[in-house]
Amino acid sequence: MNRFPGETEKTVRDTLGVKTPGALAFALVTDTHLSDTGDDTRAAMQEADAQIGYEFVIHLGDFLNGFNPPKLTERLYREETAAYAAAIRANKLFVVQGNHDGFRDETWYGQNIPDAKPNDWYHAQTRFIDAYGETTHHGDDPFYYADIAEHKLRLICMCSLDNTFLPEEKKWKTWNAVSQAQYEWFCREAVQVPDGWTVIVCSHIPPVAIHREDLDEGGLAEKHGRDCCDVLCAMINRQKAVIGGEEVDFENRDVSVAAWLFGDIHGDTQRKYKDLTLISTASQTAYIPQLWSLDYGKFPSPRTLGTPDQDCWDSVVLDRDARKLYFFRFGAGEDRIVDY
Ligand SMILES: [Fe+2]
Repeated sequence: MNRFPGETEKTVRDTLGVKTPGALAFALVTDTHLSDTGDDTRAAMQEADAQIGYEFVIHLGDFLNGFNPPKLTERLYREETAAYAAAIRANKLFVVQGNHDGFRDETWYGQNIPDAKPNDWYHAQTRFIDAYGETTHHGDDPFYYADIAEHKLRLICMCSLDNTFLPEEKKWKTWNAVSQAQYEWFCREAVQVPDGWTVIVCSHIPPVAIHREDLDEGGLAEKHGRDCCDVLCAMINRQKAVIGGEEVDFENRDVSVAAWLFGDIHGDTQRKYKDLTLISTASQTAYIPQLWSLDYGKFPSPRTLGTPDQDCWDSVVLDRDARKLYFFRFGAGEDRIVDY
């Protein structure tokens, strides 16, 4: 049962206020981390969906906490993803890999890897997405795109973690990175949408150093994250360029990029990398963020249990005609509007 009908009423009113007949609406949530309040979130989504008709839910990663054995991890991941998909009538959920969506790997004597998430293992956990008939994967890799043809929208769902097995050390290593193979796929396939189409990119880890003023140093930025953003800027500005060793040509093309959505930092962000909007949504959990002390993003507060502020997710509208992306916040935090 929905515990916060007043907040639902506000969210529905705001969402329907801008949702023109051709616009698309979806629910956006992230970093749920096996939260105690997931049932409340999904009940609220369900009631909003009954009036709005969301096309899908996007979860930007970290369903889990990453320290459980493989079989338990698989069961928990299956239960959590099924629950978020079932929160809307369309029963459709798109996911990206979070750094905590792995298992405790005890395969190799002498080490306990807390968050192992081999590419083919993760792909196997997310096969439910392929049943929608809209997704295109790259082999067994954890990244894919989904074409919502009716709305001329492509969701590019990135894996911002490079999961690599080092045979000489018998170790799994995970870096925050867009792998070389993924970057080539991104340039040669993922961004090659037909004219008239719009792209939204999703990842768990921010593509650039979001905590720095210049967005530029460290982490994913230096491992093709920044290159991906530059490719999207070339799309926005209809340019031809060689970026990260890949030639892209958007001269005389008519394609749009609405935004890059990410999670991970548990705070709210709206920033520009050149001409590209980067947006993060804060963690759904009402308690974990307050235990953390990260100096980037903005934590919505207070997050008082038993009030609408315990919750945090966005009711999003994409209006391609008006070139706007609206984020209406359910729970703690503020609404955002992106003009693209
Ligand atoms: Fe997280």
